[in-house]
Amino acid sequence: MRLAIIQTKPSFGKNEVNIHTATEQMREVPADLYVLPELFNTGYNFATPDEVDRLAEKSDGATFRAMTGFAQRNSCYVAYGFAERADRIYNSAALVGPSGLLGVYRKVHLFDRENLFFKPGNLGFPVFELPFGRVGLMICFDWMYPEAARSLALKGAQLIAHPSNLVLPYCPDGMVTRCLENKVFAATADRVGRENRGEVDVQFIGTSEIVSSRGEVLVRLGREEEGVAVVEIDLKDADKKKINQYNDLLTGRRPDQYNL
Ligand code: ACM
Repeated sequence: MRLAIIQTKPSFGKNEVNIHTATEQMREVPADLYVLPELFNTGYNFATPDEVDRLAEKSDGATFRAMTGFAQRNSCYVAYGFAERADRIYNSAALVGPSGLLGVYRKVHLFDRENLFFKPGNLGFPVFELPFGRVGLMICFDWMYPEAARSLALKGAQLIAHPSNLVLPYCPDGMVTRCLENKVFAATADRVGRENRGEVDVQFIGTSEIVSSRGEVLVRLGREEEGVAVVEIDLKDADKKKINQYNDLLTGRRPDQYNL
Protein backbone atom coordinates (compact mmCIF):
# COMPACT_ATOMS: atom_id res chain seq x y z
CA MET A 1 0.00 0.00 0.00
CA ARG A 2 1.02 3.61 -0.48
CA LEU A 3 1.15 5.53 2.80
CA ALA A 4 1.42 9.33 2.89
CA ILE A 5 2.15 11.77 5.70
CA ILE A 6 1.23 15.43 5.31
CA GLN A 7 3.22 18.01 7.30
CA THR A 8 1.17 21.21 7.53
CA LYS A 9 1.51 24.78 8.83
CA PRO A 10 -2.01 25.73 9.85
CA SER A 11 -3.18 29.31 10.40
CA PHE A 12 -4.78 29.40 13.83
CA GLY A 13 -8.58 29.50 13.74
CA LYS A 14 -8.89 29.43 9.94
CA ASN A 15 -10.50 26.02 9.51
CA GLU A 16 -11.58 26.52 5.91
CA VAL A 17 -8.17 27.76 4.76
CA ASN A 18 -6.38 24.93 6.60
CA ILE A 19 -8.62 22.26 5.08
CA HIS A 20 -8.06 23.72 1.61
CA THR A 21 -4.26 23.89 2.02
CA ALA A 22 -4.01 20.35 3.39
CA THR A 23 -6.16 19.03 0.54
CA GLU A 24 -3.86 20.74 -1.99
CA GLN A 25 -0.88 19.01 -0.32
CA MET A 26 -2.68 15.65 -0.46
CA ARG A 27 -3.31 16.12 -4.18
CA GLU A 28 0.47 16.16 -4.76
CA VAL A 29 0.86 12.41 -4.17
CA PRO A 30 -1.48 9.50 -4.89
CA ALA A 31 -1.82 7.25 -1.82
CA ASP A 32 -4.08 4.64 -0.24
CA LEU A 33 -3.95 6.27 3.20
CA TYR A 34 -3.11 9.87 4.13
CA VAL A 35 -2.26 10.80 7.71
CA LEU A 36 -2.71 14.46 8.68
CA PRO A 37 -1.60 16.21 11.90
CA GLU A 38 -3.48 16.58 15.18
CA LEU A 39 -5.96 19.54 15.15
CA PHE A 40 -4.89 20.21 11.56
CA ASN A 41 -8.02 22.26 10.83
CA THR A 42 -8.07 24.61 13.86
CA GLY A 43 -4.48 25.05 14.96
CA TYR A 44 -3.32 24.15 18.47
CA ASN A 45 -2.63 26.99 20.87
CA PHE A 46 -6.09 27.83 22.21
CA ALA A 47 -6.42 30.75 24.61
CA THR A 48 -9.83 30.07 26.18
CA PRO A 49 -12.41 27.26 26.34
CA ASP A 50 -14.81 29.56 24.43
CA GLU A 51 -12.36 29.67 21.55
CA VAL A 52 -12.20 25.86 21.34
CA ASP A 53 -15.98 25.74 21.55
CA ARG A 54 -16.26 28.11 18.58
CA LEU A 55 -13.78 26.14 16.42
CA ALA A 56 -14.79 22.56 17.33
CA GLU A 57 -16.87 20.51 14.90
CA LYS A 58 -19.07 17.45 15.14
CA SER A 59 -17.57 14.29 13.65
CA ASP A 60 -19.86 14.81 10.63
CA GLY A 61 -18.98 18.51 10.26
CA ALA A 62 -17.26 20.50 7.51
CA THR A 63 -13.84 18.85 7.95
CA PHE A 64 -15.41 15.40 7.76
CA ARG A 65 -17.28 16.38 4.56
CA ALA A 66 -14.11 17.71 2.92
CA MET A 67 -12.00 14.68 3.86
CA THR A 68 -14.71 12.18 2.87
CA GLY A 69 -15.15 14.00 -0.45
CA PHE A 70 -11.41 13.64 -1.08
CA ALA A 71 -11.54 9.94 -0.09
CA GLN A 72 -14.46 9.31 -2.45
CA ARG A 73 -12.88 11.14 -5.39
CA ASN A 74 -9.54 9.37 -4.91
CA SER A 75 -10.67 5.94 -3.58
CA CYS A 76 -8.50 6.29 -0.49
CA TYR A 77 -8.60 6.72 3.30
CA VAL A 78 -7.69 9.73 5.45
CA ALA A 79 -6.82 9.93 9.17
CA TYR A 80 -6.90 13.47 10.59
CA GLY A 81 -6.99 15.27 13.91
CA PHE A 82 -9.76 17.73 14.81
CA ALA A 83 -11.43 19.35 17.82
CA GLU A 84 -14.57 17.26 18.26
CA ARG A 85 -17.80 18.68 19.58
CA ALA A 86 -19.77 15.86 21.25
CA ASP A 87 -21.20 15.68 24.81
CA ARG A 88 -17.99 17.62 25.66
CA ILE A 89 -15.07 18.78 23.50
CA TYR A 90 -12.41 16.17 22.69
CA ASN A 91 -9.04 16.28 20.94
CA SER A 92 -9.95 13.61 18.39
CA ALA A 93 -8.82 11.83 15.25
CA ALA A 94 -11.18 10.48 12.60
CA LEU A 95 -10.62 7.83 9.97
CA VAL A 96 -12.70 8.27 6.82
CA GLY A 97 -12.90 6.44 3.51
CA PRO A 98 -15.09 6.25 0.41
CA SER A 99 -18.00 4.95 2.52
CA GLY A 100 -17.74 7.82 5.04
CA LEU A 101 -16.75 7.74 8.70
CA LEU A 102 -15.08 4.54 9.91
CA GLY A 103 -14.58 5.80 13.43
CA VAL A 104 -13.26 8.37 15.86
CA TYR A 105 -10.51 8.17 18.48
CA ARG A 106 -10.48 10.63 21.40
CA LYS A 107 -7.01 11.47 22.76
CA VAL A 108 -6.49 9.65 26.04
CA HIS A 109 -3.29 11.35 27.27
CA LEU A 110 -3.77 15.11 27.04
CA PHE A 111 -0.58 17.22 26.98
CA ASP A 112 0.02 20.37 29.03
CA ARG A 113 -2.68 23.07 28.48
CA GLU A 114 -4.81 20.68 26.42
CA ASN A 115 -6.07 19.70 29.88
CA LEU A 116 -7.73 23.13 30.13
CA PHE A 117 -9.66 22.74 26.90
CA PHE A 118 -10.45 19.08 26.27
CA LYS A 119 -12.00 16.18 28.12
CA PRO A 120 -9.74 13.08 28.15
CA GLY A 121 -10.70 10.38 25.65
CA ASN A 122 -13.13 7.68 26.69
CA LEU A 123 -13.32 5.34 23.70
CA GLY A 124 -10.11 3.30 24.10
CA PHE A 125 -7.71 2.72 21.19
CA PRO A 126 -9.50 1.64 17.98
CA VAL A 127 -8.26 -0.56 15.12
CA PHE A 128 -9.93 -0.57 11.70
CA GLU A 129 -9.83 -3.25 9.01
CA LEU A 130 -9.08 -1.56 5.68
CA PRO A 131 -8.58 -3.22 2.27
CA PHE A 132 -4.78 -3.06 2.65
CA GLY A 133 -4.47 -3.88 6.37
CA ARG A 134 -5.39 -3.04 9.95
CA VAL A 135 -4.89 0.56 11.05
CA GLY A 136 -4.99 1.84 14.63
CA LEU A 137 -5.23 5.42 15.87
CA MET A 138 -3.47 7.32 18.63
CA ILE A 139 -2.61 11.04 18.95
CA CYS A 140 0.72 12.75 19.64
CA PHE A 141 1.57 12.55 23.40
CA ASP A 142 -0.03 9.08 23.57
CA TRP A 143 3.34 7.88 22.23
CA MET A 144 4.88 8.60 25.66
CA TYR A 145 2.68 5.86 27.19
CA PRO A 146 3.84 2.51 25.75
CA GLU A 147 0.45 1.08 26.75
CA ALA A 148 -1.21 3.02 23.92
CA ALA A 149 0.82 1.50 21.07
CA ARG A 150 0.79 -1.87 22.85
CA SER A 151 -3.01 -1.78 23.12
CA LEU A 152 -3.22 -1.16 19.38
CA ALA A 153 -0.73 -3.97 18.62
CA LEU A 154 -2.63 -6.40 20.87
CA LYS A 155 -5.82 -5.50 18.99
CA GLY A 156 -4.07 -6.46 15.75
CA ALA A 157 -2.98 -3.11 14.32
CA GLN A 158 -0.30 -3.43 11.64
CA LEU A 159 0.05 0.33 11.26
CA ILE A 160 -0.41 3.12 13.80
CA ALA A 161 -1.72 6.34 12.26
CA HIS A 162 -0.43 9.03 14.62
CA PRO A 163 -1.67 12.59 14.03
CA SER A 164 0.59 14.87 16.08
CA ASN A 165 1.48 18.45 17.05
CA LEU A 166 4.90 17.76 18.56
CA VAL A 167 6.45 20.24 20.96
CA LEU A 168 9.04 18.15 22.86
CA PRO A 169 11.96 16.75 20.83
CA TYR A 170 11.73 13.07 21.85
CA CYS A 171 8.94 11.55 19.81
CA PRO A 172 10.59 10.99 16.40
CA ASP A 173 13.29 8.76 17.94
CA GLY A 174 10.87 7.39 20.55
CA MET A 175 8.53 6.07 17.87
CA VAL A 176 11.35 3.86 16.59
CA THR A 177 11.16 2.02 19.91
CA ARG A 178 7.33 1.91 19.84
CA CYS A 179 7.58 0.25 16.41
CA LEU A 180 10.34 -2.17 17.41
CA GLU A 181 8.70 -3.27 20.65
CA ASN A 182 5.40 -3.96 18.86
CA LYS A 183 6.64 -4.81 15.37
CA VAL A 184 4.19 -2.37 13.82
CA PHE A 185 4.52 0.42 11.26
CA ALA A 186 3.80 3.98 12.35
CA ALA A 187 3.00 7.18 10.48
CA THR A 188 3.53 10.27 12.64
CA ALA A 189 2.18 13.36 10.85
CA ASP A 190 3.28 16.55 12.59
CA ARG A 191 2.95 20.26 11.86
CA VAL A 192 5.54 23.03 11.67
CA GLY A 193 5.57 26.68 12.70
CA ARG A 194 4.97 28.66 15.84
CA GLU A 195 1.79 29.86 17.51
CA ASN A 196 2.48 32.86 19.73
CA ARG A 197 -0.89 33.85 21.08
CA GLY A 198 -0.21 36.32 23.85
CA GLU A 199 0.31 34.43 27.06
CA VAL A 200 1.71 31.24 25.53
CA ASP A 201 4.20 30.69 22.74
CA VAL A 202 4.36 27.21 21.19
CA GLN A 203 6.97 26.06 18.65
CA PHE A 204 6.33 22.81 16.76
CA ILE A 205 9.16 20.51 15.64
CA GLY A 206 7.98 19.08 12.33
CA THR A 207 10.07 15.91 11.77
CA SER A 208 7.06 13.87 10.63
CA GLU A 209 8.08 10.33 9.82
CA ILE A 210 7.12 6.83 8.72
CA VAL A 211 8.80 4.02 10.66
CA SER A 212 8.75 0.36 9.63
CA SER A 213 7.86 -2.65 11.77
CA ARG A 214 11.63 -3.31 11.95
CA GLY A 215 12.27 0.11 13.46
CA GLU A 216 13.71 1.65 10.26
CA VAL A 217 12.94 5.33 9.62
CA LEU A 218 11.65 5.03 6.06
CA VAL A 219 11.19 8.77 5.63
CA ARG A 220 11.54 11.82 7.88
CA LEU A 221 10.58 15.38 6.94
CA GLY A 222 12.36 18.59 7.99
CA ARG A 223 11.75 20.74 11.07
CA GLU A 224 10.55 23.91 9.33
CA GLU A 225 8.89 23.16 6.04
CA GLU A 226 5.44 22.03 5.08
CA GLY A 227 5.81 18.78 3.17
CA VAL A 228 4.47 15.51 1.88
CA ALA A 229 6.11 12.09 1.93
CA VAL A 230 4.90 8.78 0.60
CA VAL A 231 6.28 5.26 0.94
CA GLU A 232 5.21 1.92 -0.47
CA ILE A 233 4.98 -0.72 2.26
CA ASP A 234 3.57 -4.19 2.81
CA LEU A 235 1.66 -4.19 6.10
CA LYS A 236 1.94 -7.99 6.30
CA ASP A 237 5.52 -7.44 7.54
CA ALA A 238 3.91 -6.38 10.82
CA ASP A 239 2.48 -9.87 11.29
CA LYS A 240 5.99 -11.32 11.73
CA LYS A 241 6.17 -11.16 15.51
CA LYS A 242 8.83 -13.87 15.90
CA ILE A 243 12.24 -12.55 17.00
CA ASN A 244 14.03 -15.92 16.95
CA GLN A 245 13.23 -19.60 17.51
CA TYR A 246 12.39 -18.99 21.17
CA ASN A 247 10.95 -15.48 21.29
CA ASP A 248 7.63 -14.33 19.90
CA LEU A 249 7.02 -10.70 20.72
CA LEU A 250 3.39 -10.75 21.81
CA THR A 251 2.92 -14.31 23.04
CA GLY A 252 6.16 -13.91 25.05
CA ARG A 253 4.58 -11.24 27.25
CA ARG A 254 4.25 -12.10 30.97
CA PRO A 255 1.22 -10.07 32.13
CA ASP A 256 1.11 -12.01 35.43
CA GLN A 257 4.50 -10.45 36.29
CA TYR A 258 3.64 -6.86 35.40
CA ASN A 259 2.18 -4.19 37.69
CA LEU A 260 -0.38 -2.75 35.31
C1 ACM B 1 1.02 16.94 22.03
O1 ACM B 1 0.51 15.94 22.51
N1 ACM B 1 0.39 17.67 21.14
C2 ACM B 1 2.38 17.36 22.41
